[in-house]
Amino acid sequence: MTSNRESGEVDISAVLHEQRRFEPQAQFAARARLQAAQLAALHERAGKDYLGFWRELALSQLNWHRSFSVTLDDSQAPNYRWFCDGELNVSHECLDVQIIAGRGEKAAIRFEAETGEVRRLSYRQLHADVCRMANALKSLGVQMGDRVVIYLPLVPEAIVAMQACARIGAIHSVVFGGFSALSLRERIADAGACVLITADGGRRGGEIVQLKAAADSALAERCESVRNVIVLRHAGNPVDMHEGRDCWWHELCAHQSPRCEPQWVPAEHPLFLLHTSGSTGRPKGIQHASAGYLLNVKLSCQWVFDLREDDVFWCTADVGWVTGHSYVCYGPLANGATVVIYEGAPTYPDGGRFWKICQDHGVTILYTAPTAIRALMRLGDAIPARYDLSSLRLLGSVGEPINPEAWMWYHRVIGRGRCPIVDTWWQTETGAILISPVPGVTATKPGSCTLPLPGIFADILDERGEPVTGPEIGGYLVITRPWPSLARTIWGDNQRYIDTYWRKFGGRCYLAGDGAYRDAEGYFWIVGRIDDVLNVAGHRLGTMEIESALVAHARVAEAAVVGRPHEIKGEGILAFVVCRGARPGTAEVVTLAEELRGWVAAQLSPIARPDEIRFADALPKTRSGKIMRRLLRAIARGEPLSQDVSTLENPAIVAQLRGDQQPSA
Ligand code: PRX
Repeated sequence: MTSNRESGEVDISAVLHEQRRFEPQAQFAARARLQAAQLAALHERAGKDYLGFWRELALSQLNWHRSFSVTLDDSQAPNYRWFCDGELNVSHECLDVQIIAGRGEKAAIRFEAETGEVRRLSYRQLHADVCRMANALKSLGVQMGDRVVIYLPLVPEAIVAMQACARIGAIHSVVFGGFSALSLRERIADAGACVLITADGGRRGGEIVQLKAAADSALAERCESVRNVIVLRHAGNPVDMHEGRDCWWHELCAHQSPRCEPQWVPAEHPLFLLHTSGSTGRPKGIQHASAGYLLNVKLSCQWVFDLREDDVFWCTADVGWVTGHSYVCYGPLANGATVVIYEGAPTYPDGGRFWKICQDHGVTILYTAPTAIRALMRLGDAIPARYDLSSLRLLGSVGEPINPEAWMWYHRVIGRGRCPIVDTWWQTETGAILISPVPGVTATKPGSCTLPLPGIFADILDERGEPVTGPEIGGYLVITRPWPSLARTIWGDNQRYIDTYWRKFGGRCYLAGDGAYRDAEGYFWIVGRIDDVLNVAGHRLGTMEIESALVAHARVAEAAVVGRPHEIKGEGILAFVVCRGARPGTAEVVTLAEELRGWVAAQLSPIARPDEIRFADALPKTRSGKIMRRLLRAIARGEPLSQDVSTLENPAIVAQLRGDQQPSA
């Protein structure tokens, strides 16, 4: 599938023809939380009485401090508002409600550090820690609606910090610990945060990630709004503490009360911002509301993960991504479940680490990304065979289309043929899983996320906004009715929200930004992004963001970035660069390529480091001066060129771009 920024045309074709089909196993189906008849009834109810369906679920699933009378306010569509005259508190729901239900001594979190240290936190302990941090934030003057940026490793304190914000109605904005100082700065400035919570360092692959040093460098410019920095002592590396601004987490919390009344907030009160890449150089702060978000994340844990009392749920995502928000911090806790979190790298100290964690913690549900599955698959079947994986009963996948080969390996080698696989499609903007099998009910096909959940109405439209007719015809994936956990806006830029997600089809439906098709049975198959967004190892990266980082380098005159298939990461990054004053074709260029790869990693994140940089004397452009990305993509993939290159100013550059000819000096 390709998108074309020049003409806006989209050409989506079904390239995958997977025939295998797996019926639900009788044993799983017999115990499933959602039985086939119940699922059918939910679909029917949602179809007949959409608002009644969501109203009943919101009343039965959430603990309202003040109930609501308005289910959906669409008076400012597409800025939909759900349950807006109700009041609740998300942290109360995840902690107090669980303790009242008798789960005080139950493990809320089982944490494993990369060093192997294990810590268990009961719901009661987590509640006390959250209250102490909530009081600490209040002592620093943080008020309802203030933004707090969290830049931490994947440790229990990350969850404590998020829940503490929710408790007092502060809006958290978590920045992935793998992001650079510059990315952190941009996000802090965009959010206008008053407090930053970070750590001395994090651990990854045996190394220490210098989080505090990055935070200091981020705060050196454009972050005047930050009054205080709370520093968690974690990795033990020395750090500079700025008098009057920085304080240690343990000192700040030592004298705080372990009790803190939840701040009741309106249903629509923003719970968090999470920045994600779009098709411009500037990441957008996706803003989620409280009640609607919580409803969908809570329900999807029940419907998709069949979550029950004795489960040990391990979602491997970092809290820096939406998956870590919805299926580490909020959804499982709102269901009173036990979550496992692991700080380190999946292959540290060896390729058995994931499977050892499953074995040692008795993980029953594992939710991870295709890129991790592919990386571990490459290491061979012998490694997982060394571990007792009999506790596993359900496997999940998220973040990118899973290729059938990886699906089959996950099924056969990890699930030992017993565990259903749920391939869950959703996005930062959707808040929760929207399209996924319901285990025990939906037959699965490797590579398909199958069917929308109850209350979710998905369709595939052609360029004119007409539903595509007939199976296997590709088009734009859209959601035709609003749902409670839909992002409310883009922080500080509502127009961009409207333009990005609603404008294309005249405000009628939510444009997901993915291309998809349906098979003869109506199953959805996601083909990939239709905008200039790459999906590298399950992480969204805007090509424009990488291009902006490249041209910020003194030696780069112009850059164009495209994706190409990558065996492990799904998509890899190839950058075409025109140098300024360099002497292409010399050894200097090789050094420069390395320098630029490192530069992008430092500017954005190591995830964004280009796999390859190719230099050319010029980039191919249309007559109106736009870069011919479709041509570049074809070149990147080594495909034959179907485009007319005769209009190029300098047709010889095609050979340079292909890499088979050195640029002239
Ligand atoms: O392209 C789709 C892909 O990931 C994008 C959303 O990325 P992000 O907001 O970072 O959230 C990732 C975790 C929810 C989507 O637009 N994607 C996500 N899940 C799947 C997927 N593509 C295919 N199949 C999936 N299961």
